[in-house]
Amino acid sequence: MDKKVYEGFMSDEVTDEMLGEAAKLFSENYGVWSEHAAERMGKFAKAGHPIRLSKERLRNEYLPSEISSYVRVTVNGHLAGNAFACRWSIDGRTICWITQLVVHHDYRERGLAAGLLDEIRLDGDDVYSVMSSHPAACLAASRAYKRPIDTASLEFMKDNAQSIIKASPVGYIRDAKLRGRLFDSEDTSGLVSSVNTGFFVDHAEPLEALAWVRESMDWPLGELLDGHEFILILQARRRSRSRSSSSRRNATS
Ligand SMILES: CC(C)(COP(=O)(O)OP(=O)(O)OC[C@H]1O[C@@H](n2cnc3c(N)ncnc32)[C@H](O)[C@@H]1OP(=O)(O)O)[C@@H](O)C(=O)NCCC(=O)NCCS
Repeated sequence: MDKKVYEGFMSDEVTDEMLGEAAKLFSENYGVWSEHAAERMGKFAKAGHPIRLSKERLRNEYLPSEISSYVRVTVNGHLAGNAFACRWSIDGRTICWITQLVVHHDYRERGLAAGLLDEIRLDGDDVYSVMSSHPAACLAASRAYKRPIDTASLEFMKDNAQSIIKASPVGYIRDAKLRGRLFDSEDTSGLVSSVNTGFFVDHAEPLEALAWVRESMDWPLGELLDGHEFILILQARRRSRSRSSSSRRNATS
């Protein structure tokens, strides 16, 4: 049987060696630039070439504060996947934003992404969010945070997305532009809950996944366009400690 080990680290515990391994995992498994990437983003983004990240960029952009965290999973000692999260507060609520999630090609579709997102949770997180072109990243979040995606509160996303994004310490999140019918009733593009991030990753694999997902469910986040990603924002379910204290309160009232 495979030996699967999840480990979590707060930002100040993450070593350069861990980031070096994470950068390698990302650069070899995340995805490739789309055919429009070079004209929209610059010559470095050559169509079909892998998207790369350095460990310096991981540290500066993905772990920007001490309440950022990193989780990884190894299978039989090999790094099989990892995730980064950044946290910030708004109106007394803690937002936990998944800034990166990658699973090695050889280890996909066996629940590792959902396991990583479950592992990254902290008591005190009030809201979870992810921006991703891959429907599986959204499905993994909905599984980890126990909010089935087809029943996720679109109203909550509609009412809170803009203020959450604007309060982010992460530049690319703050600059993301909300798109889709959820945020603009006159939007007829087919987008529902999306962000224009101007990030031209090739969408062949996410679109294939989307078609497959749509065969079995009513996908609520709409279409996926070039340069765009889905946005999913979920309210945390309170852990049993608060449930039991509220049931105690109910029992004595
Ligand atoms: C997105 C990614 C992290 C998913 O990792 P994974 O370990 O295969 O995901 P899981 O096995 O935990 O699956 C999560 C859900 O997605 C579904 N899923 C996974 N891969 C899928 C695919 N290719 N097509 C359709 N559904 C898929 C699973 O069935 C599961 O759904 P369920 O909870 O309803 O059963 C992985 O495909 C990846 O690294 N992709 C490239 C990088 C990327 O796009 N990252 C997201 C950016 S934030």
